[in-house]
Amino acid sequence: MSHTLSLNLHNIVFLVIGLTVVKLTLLGLGFLTLVKATKLRTFTVDNQRNIFLKDGQPFRYISGSLHYFRVPNMYWKDRMKKMKAAGLNSLQTYVEWSSHEPEPGMYNFSGELDLVKFLKTAQEVGLLVIFRPGPYICAERDMGGLPYWLMREKMDIKLRTNDPTYMKFVKKWFSTLLPIINPFLYKNGGPIVTIQVENEYGQVGICDFEYMTSLRDVLHDYLGKDVILFKTDIPHVGAYKCDNIDGVLVTADFGSGTNVKKAFETIRLFRKSGPLVVTEYYPGWMGHWGEPQANVSTKMICDTLDDILSANASVNFYMFHGGTNFGFKNGANMKYAPQPTSYDYTAPISEAGDPTPRYISISKIISKYVPLPGPLPKPAPKLSIGPLTLNWISSLLDAIPFLKGPDIVYSKYPKTFEELSQAYGFMVYSTVVTFITTDPAVLNVPGLHDRGYIFVEKKFMGVLSRSERICSLPLQVKQDQILTILVENQGRINSGNILDSKKS
Ligand SMILES: *[C@@H]1O[C@H](CO)[C@@H](O)[C@H](O)[C@H]1NC(C)=O
Ligand SMILES: *[C@@H]1O[C@H](CO)[C@@H](O)[C@H](O)[C@H]1NC(C)=O
Ligand SMILES: *[C@@H]1O[C@H](CO)[C@@H](O)[C@H](O)[C@H]1NC(C)=O
Repeated sequence: MSHTLSLNLHNIVFLVIGLTVVKLTLLGLGFLTLVKATKLRTFTVDNQRNIFLKDGQPFRYISGSLHYFRVPNMYWKDRMKKMKAAGLNSLQTYVEWSSHEPEPGMYNFSGELDLVKFLKTAQEVGLLVIFRPGPYICAERDMGGLPYWLMREKMDIKLRTNDPTYMKFVKKWFSTLLPIINPFLYKNGGPIVTIQVENEYGQVGICDFEYMTSLRDVLHDYLGKDVILFKTDIPHVGAYKCDNIDGVLVTADFGSGTNVKKAFETIRLFRKSGPLVVTEYYPGWMGHWGEPQANVSTKMICDTLDDILSANASVNFYMFHGGTNFGFKNGANMKYAPQPTSYDYTAPISEAGDPTPRYISISKIISKYVPLPGPLPKPAPKLSIGPLTLNWISSLLDAIPFLKGPDIVYSKYPKTFEELSQAYGFMVYSTVVTFITTDPAVLNVPGLHDRGYIFVEKKFMGVLSRSERICSLPLQVKQDQILTILVENQGRINSGNILDSKKS
């Protein structure tokens, strides 16, 4: 369905509603009816009844996170329908700047990044959209969704602050993104009802109010002063103080077992009235390399969900369907703990797109509050592809001359990935040992980011690892031999101090 057509359909729907109102008041004024009808499409905050108003009627959302960049676009509609079947009326997505602008001024909104198609699909399925444009998103993604090249443009850039270089690129990015999504705001006929400013900014402890305020103002400039903006943090006084700005809803992120009443009281310290919203409610949990999959109790998830829904709050499950970190886009938590390729998140809909037992339990709780639209979906049939045989072709080091595009760069000291415009993946560092060594010698690489495979004359000697805090290796290497380190970037830090993200 074309965009124009879907907009027209909305006008017709609201023309009908408009007519019933207008019949009582404005008999016969055809054109005025249309104007009146468009105006009825509103999404606002009722500070008396502490609830959202959708087209003037009390409304609360029950939403689930679904990130378009983590699900192949041919499955978007299927996943959304399964969300709707569980009783959800909305979805929530982040926008990942680093994917849409892989290099400065080069934009990509196609394939898995076809945001317009994603928003249209949500609307077709009948889900509203909670929109989280960042620019920083965390999301367990490389550098929290910020483009790696920010660190190349200015070596000491102060990310997530009012740093002029950072803000110059943020404003340029928003001047591209926001006009694209403007037609999809609820007031303009689309599904987007609320928009987040930054992401859990109070938790990081930077407390740059000018930064938060400029982001809010940029959103207002492009989307209008009448859109509902919100911010979110763990329900903690210190966090809420640290990103406390006017004109945004204060919302909370928490998991099962939280004292919901207390969490909402903390929100009320900063926002006396308005709807209560849980922006991230965790019906599962993330994974890290080397850890067993998270095992959160489904009963506890359901009990706390019941507490949230019985308080008339709006809620978003983070994640309802996690999906996959395709390519090299996973991030890492500090310590250093990189995220794996899977973002299953033990979410209600599995990485394969199937409803899980957790999905069924959660939909039972939701059905206490809203009727479910129909029968629950079944797992999809699976293809049996049989065993796969892998054949030896070449070692990586031998294959380097045949790989597409690698440049050889000579420098006195090793350069970072960012300095060499290598966004992700691997880099090979080689040097000839110029001095007489001890036997064994100790190779010490304390600044390694993140995993180094060590070779002497192409003979594999061992692995250094930032996550295992192993930064030195005894080895035998003689003068005039070639020492090589294949460095793997395992994902830039996505939360806390993301300034320490350069790779080498
Ligand atoms: C845009 O992104 C899509 C999805 O990730 C990718 O398949 C495509 O190659 C990209 N296009 C360009 C021009 O880089
Ligand atoms: C998860 O926890 C439950 C209850 O604590 C336990 O019965 C179950 O075996 C655990 N599952 C896994 C995969 O560890
Ligand atoms: C929830 O909303 C209903 C209907 O408006 C109201 O009767 C009830 O008191 C509200 N509950 C709470 C906890 O605010």
